[in-house]
Amino acid sequence: MKTKKITGKTKFDKIMEINPDAGMILFEHGLHCVGCGMASVETLEQGCIAHGMGKKEIKELIDKLNKKKKNKTVNEKKPIKKIYLKIWKLAKPYYEKGRPMDIDHIKWMIQDALIVCQKEKIDDSLLLPLVILHDVGYGVGEKVYFNKDLKHKHMKIGAKIAKKILKKVKYPKEKIKKIVYYISVHDNWIFGDNEIYKKDIILGTFTDLDYIWMATPKGFPIFMKILNKNSKEMLEYLWTNEKLKNRSFVTKTTKKIYNNYVRDRKEEMKK
Ligand SMILES: [Fe+2]
Ligand SMILES: [Fe+2]
Repeated sequence: MKTKKITGKTKFDKIMEINPDAGMILFEHGLHCVGCGMASVETLEQGCIAHGMGKKEIKELIDKLNKKKKNKTVNEKKPIKKIYLKIWKLAKPYYEKGRPMDIDHIKWMIQDALIVCQKEKIDDSLLLPLVILHDVGYGVGEKVYFNKDLKHKHMKIGAKIAKKILKKVKYPKEKIKKIVYYISVHDNWIFGDNEIYKKDIILGTFTDLDYIWMATPKGFPIFMKILNKNSKEMLEYLWTNEKLKNRSFVTKTTKKIYNNYVRDRKEEMKK
């Protein structure tokens, strides 16, 4: 049987079919195109050129993508564990009643959190439920989202809902306790508490990802609207944000993901 080869003309969505490890390899080369809306339209070569890659770099990437495929035993793409899908299914109805952006926010965050867990050897059994459940508390209550009182409430209510969901899926008791605590404090930076994120790698990685959302293809335009900024102002908002000073990125991978997204947004602005 003839094995399919990846070439410059292969579209992004097909690359993943040919080589399930491609997501990670592309990510390492600064390409987030797999999950983007252009994946079925854009070819690998077009994506590389758009990201400023030269001929030599493109060839190296194609070689890597084809080589990895033959080496089947290493790094099989991690599927999302069933238990996380179960948690997501139970959490979704709350998000449907919550902020309009949150379903996209969580879906994106699950994907990048899995990458960070794999690369940084972070315990996904704590980070993933935290990511999936952190804002379920917005589904109950008022619709004003930038108010300190509500910020406090959504953590409190969210912790209760998370406990209920995690018990329902029979999550390990000691883990439920930790995750519920994380949810009850996940936005505490708003109240000036930055230390908790430095002391705990799960909370630190979480807050990195939560912030990075504002630089993603979907999150960026949403926040431009919410904050009433054009793209240049939005980029300035990200560059000068207190987060970078008070809660610097806790892992190399989250920093890299952020820089890649920001670079992509800058390039879009030039078009
Ligand atoms: Fe939150
Ligand atoms: Fe969030």
